[in-house]
Amino acid sequence: MTALKIIGIILGAVFLWLVLIRVIKHFYHCPAPAFIGRFLDSRWRRWLQSPDKIIERSGIKAGMTVVDLGCGSGAFTTSVARVVGREGKVYAVDIQPAMLKQLERKLSKAENQDIKNIELKQASAYELPFGDNSVDLVYMVTVLPEIPDRSRALREVRRVLKAGGILAVTEFLPDPDYPLPATTIKMGQRAGFVLDDNLGNLWSYTVRFKKPA
Ligand SMILES: C[S@@+](CC[C@H](N)C(=O)[O-])C[C@H]1O[C@@H](n2cnc3c(N)ncnc32)[C@H](O)[C@@H]1O
Repeated sequence: MTALKIIGIILGAVFLWLVLIRVIKHFYHCPAPAFIGRFLDSRWRRWLQSPDKIIERSGIKAGMTVVDLGCGSGAFTTSVARVVGREGKVYAVDIQPAMLKQLERKLSKAENQDIKNIELKQASAYELPFGDNSVDLVYMVTVLPEIPDRSRALREVRRVLKAGGILAVTEFLPDPDYPLPATTIKMGQRAGFVLDDNLGNLWSYTVRFKKPA
């Protein structure tokens, strides 16, 4: 079999997977099942979506108070915690206890014992457990299109962000909920955010917004 045929088969399979899951999700809305947490936080995922790149594109810096909204099994949480450092804080928020359990297990591993600045919170994006204007940055990796009422979730993100605070939305094409960058930009702007930057490529991008001062 030629390399071209193999690539064609892989692309065809990915396309069919995306169509099938999108059709199912159209009729039956649910968050990503917790069993995919293992894939989300795998070596393969990190190779495809490097945490360092996502952190840089999102504008995450030392000392920030950050919310990992829809953190899942924590694919990016520990790397972010190391970047924000001792002066910073990461709140890992997810609606599914089973996802947070996986992150808890990850944090209990020997290699993560140096991390002391992550707090896990089971909550919905509709009701974030933070005060008004209290957070420097909220990032969402392959989460926003999974939320049925995105406008409501974005309004809530706006509430908790400080003036000038950052919302970073990262999307990734193999995700069955993947939206085009233009769709994400429109959603953010409709919710009252100002577009700061759109980084990456079509299949893996981060749109960065700012809450107006
Ligand atoms: C596809 S996973 C992505 C997880 C993680 N951000 C990552 O990239 O590995 C989407 C996550 O968003 C969470 N989620 C979906 N709807 C949510 C909501 N309304 N509030 C909070 N979390 C939600 C799901 O439970 C799931 O863990």
